[in-house]
Amino acid sequence: MDVKPSFRVQVIHGPNLNMLGLREPAIYGPQTLATLEAMLGQEASQLNLALGFFQSNSEGALVDCIQACFGQQDGILINPGAYTHTSVAIRDAIAAVGLPTVEVHLSNIHRREPFRHHSYIAAVAVGQICGFGADSYRLGLQALAQHLKTL
Ligand code: DQA
Repeated sequence: MDVKPSFRVQVIHGPNLNMLGLREPAIYGPQTLATLEAMLGQEASQLNLALGFFQSNSEGALVDCIQACFGQQDGILINPGAYTHTSVAIRDAIAAVGLPTVEVHLSNIHRREPFRHHSYIAAVAVGQICGFGADSYRLGLQALAQHLKTL
């Protein structure tokens, strides 16, 4: 018997994450975006979540995707990529829709170049998980599922 998913979560990947596998694998790991999403799909079925996936290199498209989550999704798992460190627009979109959002990064942004240490997203996120490679997403999904249950 199929069990109805308890929560709907939109997974959003920012710029250059479509290049995973090819892109600086010593920093971001060997997995492709497709592999990472397949792993998240498995995790989601354990957690009884329904996932949507979106990737864009464009800031406006990411804002549109976040806005489209309003009324359609229960939470957002986002790796904003380089826009983490630059985008007031993505931060404002998350604040506007008011959905519980978990920020994830493959690398530990706090032990990298100083320009990566600040996140515009962290202040509007439930929390941030970084530095665990693809596992950051898995742990982020678990944390979001747990958080949604408390609301
Ligand atoms: C990243 C970290 C960012 O600083 C970088 O610009 C990325 C990926 C990460 O997942 O580690 O594109 O978000």
